[in-house]
Amino acid sequence: MLDTSSRAKSKQLSNFLPAFRFLRPYKWRILLAGIALVTTAGVSLSLGQGLRLLIDQGFVAGSSEALTQTLLLFLVLVTLLALGTFLRFYLVSWLGERVSADLRKAVFRHLLQLHPGFFETNLSGEIQARITADTTVLQTVIGSSLSVALRNVLLFLGGIAWLFWTNPKLTSIVLIAVPLLVSPVVIFGRRVRRLSRTSQDKVASVGAYVGEALQHIKIVQGMNHQQVDEKSFSQHVESAFDAGIQRIRQRAFLIAIVMLLVLGSVGGMLWVGGQDVLAGRVTPGELAAFVFYALIVASSLGFLSEVIGDLQRAAGATERLMELLEAKSEITDPISPQSLPSLVRGSLEINDLHFCYPSRPDSFALQAVNLNIEPGMTMALVGPSGAGKSTLLELLLRFYDPLQGSIHFEGIDLRYLALQEFRRHIAFVPQQPTLFSANVWENLCYGQPDASKEEMLAATRDANAEEFLDKLPQGFDSFLGEQGVRLSGGQRQRLAIARAILRDPKLLLLDEATSALDAESERMVQEALLRLMQERTTIVIAHRLATVIHADQIAVMDQGRVVALGTHQQLLHSSPLYSRLAELQFRQEAVQAA
Ligand SMILES: Nc1ncnc2c1ncn2[C@@H]1O[C@H](COP(=O)(O)OP(=O)(O)OP(=O)(O)O)[C@@H](O)[C@H]1O
Ligand SMILES: [Mg+2]
Repeated sequence: MLDTSSRAKSKQLSNFLPAFRFLRPYKWRILLAGIALVTTAGVSLSLGQGLRLLIDQGFVAGSSEALTQTLLLFLVLVTLLALGTFLRFYLVSWLGERVSADLRKAVFRHLLQLHPGFFETNLSGEIQARITADTTVLQTVIGSSLSVALRNVLLFLGGIAWLFWTNPKLTSIVLIAVPLLVSPVVIFGRRVRRLSRTSQDKVASVGAYVGEALQHIKIVQGMNHQQVDEKSFSQHVESAFDAGIQRIRQRAFLIAIVMLLVLGSVGGMLWVGGQDVLAGRVTPGELAAFVFYALIVASSLGFLSEVIGDLQRAAGATERLMELLEAKSEITDPISPQSLPSLVRGSLEINDLHFCYPSRPDSFALQAVNLNIEPGMTMALVGPSGAGKSTLLELLLRFYDPLQGSIHFEGIDLRYLALQEFRRHIAFVPQQPTLFSANVWENLCYGQPDASKEEMLAATRDANAEEFLDKLPQGFDSFLGEQGVRLSGGQRQRLAIARAILRDPKLLLLDEATSALDAESERMVQEALLRLMQERTTIVIAHRLATVIHADQIAVMDQGRVVALGTHQQLLHSSPLYSRLAELQFRQEAVQAA
C-alpha cells in the first residue's frame, strides 16, 4: 500500500536524486544551461568590478575618456548577461516542463499495467494527486528552484571571496551582520510558506466542495439543501480568505523588514567604509563595489533559504512518484508466453480453483471450483449474492491469479499466455456498463479501434441500440456525458452490448444487470444478449428466466463453491437451492410467461 504519511515525513534532499534519472536524456541541454548559468553568475560578479572602475577611473580621476571606456565595457557585460539569462531561463524552464511531462507519461503508463487489486488498496484520488500535484512541484523545482539555488551558491561564494580579498576588516563586519540580516527573513519566509500551503489547501477544499455539490445537484435541490450548502460553502470560502490574509500580512512584514535591514546595513557599511574613504585607505570605487558584493552575498543567502523549502517539497514529491513507479504488478506476462492456436474456438477448463481476495486472506471467495466449458456453449452462473459469481469472471479475465488450481483457455494455462493475446478473444459486459466521456462512436469502438462505420452500425443493430442512438440530438456524434449519464440504464446496457458484439469475441463474459428495466427495454436487452450468445462460448451470470432457459448448462454457486450443475429442468428437481432461487427470482417472469 502506498504510504500516505510520506507527505509530511520525507524531507531528506537525497530523496530527490531519483528524479535525475529523468534528466539523463537531456544531457546536452543541461550542459548548455550549466554553461549559461556559470557565465551569467560570472558576469553578475564582474559587474561589481565594472562599478569600481567606473567610479575610480571615470569620476574620481575626472577623465571623460575613461568614463566612456568603462561604460562600453559595462554595456558589453550587460549584453552578455542578458543573453546568458535568456538561454539559462529558456533551457532550464524547458527541462522542468519536459521532465514533468515525461514523469506523467511514465507514471500513467506504469499504472495502466498494474494489477487491478492495486487500486483497491490505493485510492485513486491519492494517485491522481501524485500525477498532477507532485509532478507540478518537480516542474517548478527543476525548471527554476534548482538553477536559482546553483546560481546563488556561485554568487555567494564569488561574493565572499571578493569581499575577503579586498577588505577583510569590513568583511568581518559583514559576516557578523549577515546572519542578523538573514535570520528574520528566513523566519518570516518560512511562516509565509507554511501559510501559503494552508491557504492552498483551503482553496482546494473550496474546489472539492463545489465539485461534490454540483455533481449531486439533483439531491441538493430535491432535498432543499441549498441554504445549508450555501452557508457551509461560505464558511469554506471565508476560511480560505482568512488564510490568505494571514499569509499576506506576514508577507507584507517580510517585505518591510527586508527593506529596513538591507538599506540599514548598506547605510552602516557606507558609514564605516566612508570613514576609510575619507582617511584615504580605500577608494570610493572600492567602497561601492564592496557594497555591491555585500548585497549579492546577502541576497543569495535570502534566495537559498527560499528555495531550500522548494527542494524539500520536491524530495517528498519525488519519493511519492517513485513509489508509484516502483510498484510491481502482480499480474504480468510470462517470460516466454505460449501462443494460442491460429483458430481459437473458445474452450475453458477450470480445475480445482481456489481464490481469496488479497484483502481477505482467510476467507475463500472461490473453493474447489471445477467447470468444463466446451466451445460454443452457454454456461449460466446463478447463486445468492456474495456466492462468488463475479469473482469467477474476474479470474477468467486474469485480473487476479488463483491461489490454487488453474484456468485453461484453449488448453493453455492463463498464466502461460500473454495477457493481451488471450484478452483479445474475450469481451466482457459488466453489471454496470462502463461508458466514457466521449461520443457514441468512440464508446462503440473502444475495444476495436479499427472497426469500420458499417461494422459499428451492424453491431448497434444487433444490440437493438440503433433506434435510440439515431434519435439522439446529434445521432452517433452525440456526447454521452460523464459515465454516459445522458443515457438511460437500459440504453447504456445496449450500447455496452453493441461494443462487445463489435469485438466479435470467442469468449463472452456477461454480468447481467439486476437493475429493474421496464418490460420493453428488458425485452430489447434480452434479445440482443441472446443474439450475442449464439455461436460463441458464453459465461453469463444470470438473473433472468430467459437466460437460464437458453443456457446449455447452469452452475449453481454458493459460498464460493459450485454446488450443483445441470439444466433448468434438471436443477429444479435436483437442487433445493436452485429451486428456491428460481422460485424467488424468476417467479414473476414465469407468471408473465405463462
Ligand atoms: N475486491 C474485493 N475484495 C475483497 N473481497 C471481495 C472483493 N470483491 C468481492 N469480495 C467478496 O467476495 C465474495 C464474493 O463476491 P462476488 O462479487 O463474487 O459475489 P457475487 O456472487 O457476484 O454476488 P452478487 O450477486 O451480489 O453480485 C463476497 O463475500 C464479497 O464480499
Ligand atoms: Mg456480482
